Amino acid sequence: MIQHGLKGVIAAETAISFIDGNKGYLVYRGKEAKEIALNYSFEEAAYFLWHGTFPTKEELASLNQKLKNNRTLPQNIEKIMQLLPNDMELMSVIRTVVSSLGNSQYKWKPTIDEAIRLTAIIPTIIAYWKRKISGLQPVTPNEDYGHVENYLYMLTGKKPLDVHVKTLETYMILTMEHGMNASTFSARVTVSTESDMISAITSAIGTMKGPLHGGAPSDVTIMLNEIGTKENAESWLRAKLENGERLMGFGHRVYKTKDPRALALKEKALEIGQDDPWLALALHVEETAIQLLEEYKPGRKLYTNVEFFAAAVMRAINMEDDLFTPTFTASRVVGWSAHVLEQAERNVIFRPESQYIGSLPFLMN
Ligand code: CMC
Repeated sequence: MIQHGLKGVIAAETAISFIDGNKGYLVYRGKEAKEIALNYSFEEAAYFLWHGTFPTKEELASLNQKLKNNRTLPQNIEKIMQLLPNDMELMSVIRTVVSSLGNSQYKWKPTIDEAIRLTAIIPTIIAYWKRKISGLQPVTPNEDYGHVENYLYMLTGKKPLDVHVKTLETYMILTMEHGMNASTFSARVTVSTESDMISAITSAIGTMKGPLHGGAPSDVTIMLNEIGTKENAESWLRAKLENGERLMGFGHRVYKTKDPRALALKEKALEIGQDDPWLALALHVEETAIQLLEEYKPGRKLYTNVEFFAAAVMRAINMEDDLFTPTFTASRVVGWSAHVLEQAERNVIFRPESQYIGSLPFLMN
């Protein structure tokens, strides 16, 4: 029997993360993701996902140094970025530039050092592009800053507020990894052909871009901007559902209860954006939409997913809409690369079957 969209099909064994979609748990290598997000740095969480243990002081210092060494764009890559047209979507820019990094060093089998190099460079690609299209000079990475602090610094050229760094770090750890999601699956399929790390991550970025996956949070802001006022919410949402349209930031393939990432981000959004009228509107839209989804889609168990509150958190730290999905990419590269390494360790090429429903040239017995 066909499982359209591979719903419910187990496609790989993994020790990287576990999701209980009915109880609403997300676990990274045996530890609750939320606990890691609130108590560890981006670098420590990344190390944990790649290695399965937290780093010692020396291991952390070595990882930090490798990340710092790989933050600067090579000259040929800068030239490529200068040639790309300014109206190119940022996710397409990241996909193109990451692909261009794929020189002959990258080959089967993928390595952790390659994962570190890619993790280090993606924030620089994003910041360089944002500044280029705004007519601003790029900001040289700051050696004294951690991964997330430096990302914010390269975007603005100013030392970011600690509360913004911690909020973004929480978001980036919570979105680092999420089981066999579409982009992770793409990465695993690509590397399963004994291709290389760059090719696998390029596939993943192309998959991440779509609004049914990583591209939803900017659609959440579009939705909230269109709704505009609490009074307008019910009629706007009802009209969409009457029209058979999906509400962005709601529903999930795995979670049939509240997405634990959404809950954690909601807490963060309330902590730092409590006086923001936009957040008050978001909370009202959440409540109204959940009621309406129960009315229009009874029994489907549709709640807010990570993207809904990602939009709120990003807004609270002054991130522009076009940075939402790229920032998700800058964190998810850790999970993708961990899966690429895991796939390479016990590789079987992915090659499912399809059921032919076209005509045949002759009758086959
Ligand atoms: N708004 C309205 N109806 C919905 C929604 C939604 N957001 N999500 C699911 N449904 C309905 C859908 O129409 C279907 O109804 P019916 O049974 O009458 O055909 C039912 O719920 C089941 O939907 P499905 O498409 O079979 O569920 P799925 O598991 O294939 O889809 C999803 C998961 C995330 C693609 C979907 O919920 C969706 O399109 N959500 C909106 C986009 C979004 O927020 N994406 C971000 C996902 S979270 C980030 C990530 O992990 O990738």
